Amino acid sequence: MSRQILPLVLVLLAAQGSLAQKQQQEDPCQTKSRVVGDIDYCDRYWECVNGRPELFDCPNGLVFAGKHRGVTEGCDYPWRANYCDGKRQANPPIQTDHCDWLYGIFGHETSCTRYWTCWNGTATEQLCIGGLLYNERARSCDWPENVEGCQKHPLCNDDANGNVPLGKSCNRYWQCQGGYPRLQRCPAMLVFDRRSLRCVVPPTEDCDVPTTPPPTEGELSEGHNEQEPEEENLPPGVPPLPAGALPIPLRARARN
Ligand SMILES: *[C@@H]1O[C@H](CO)[C@@H](O)[C@H](O)[C@H]1NC(C)=O
Repeated sequence: MSRQILPLVLVLLAAQGSLAQKQQQEDPCQTKSRVVGDIDYCDRYWECVNGRPELFDCPNGLVFAGKHRGVTEGCDYPWRANYCDGKRQANPPIQTDHCDWLYGIFGHETSCTRYWTCWNGTATEQLCIGGLLYNERARSCDWPENVEGCQKHPLCNDDANGNVPLGKSCNRYWQCQGGYPRLQRCPAMLVFDRRSLRCVVPPTEDCDVPTTPPPTEGELSEGHNEQEPEEENLPPGVPPLPAGALPIPLRARARN
């Protein structure tokens, strides 16, 4: 074993910095894209500049994905694919407020429904809507039961299996199931009654008989009642829910 490894190491040392002799490293000037990833470091790439290969670092926190791929400069979040399999990262993290690296998506320090997206070291607070919580592993909002340590949503604190009004909405409401909120819609022609916390035949004190026909399947158009801010009736301590808050699986359908 060691007899085989030593000559290889010597060859690599001899080839130090010289791309042509380093057998496995592709020369970007020999490729159509003019850009190739480094063979040792996943956060580095070679680009053909004025006919010669030049070494570049990805923006801090990103790794090379390929020309015109990733989120910027051909670089991507490392967890989006197996970019770093068998490779190391050359650059250590550069940290700023809320950002473990200059670029990335990071968990919130104090909230299960919020997280940070960092772009060049500038953090932007993001909010999970529709009763979802931030899933650190998936780097996205997710159903509460998939999120370790943040199992239940404060929306359901009062009654783990009760219904909760969704702002001023007349037909949508939260249904708590064992502390997990689910966005629900009353059957056609019924409205949500915030007193009995049930779907009832209108009119109620807050909701008239719907004047528009119920939305067809797969279409989640908003009634004008729902354009009002919807956070007003949430229990204290519950993060505000933007108007039109929908769980992720519904969002794609809601968009036209
Ligand atoms: C990133 O931010 C630094 C200053 O913090 C700035 O000098 C640099 O141009 C920025 N880079 C990009 C790509 O925006």
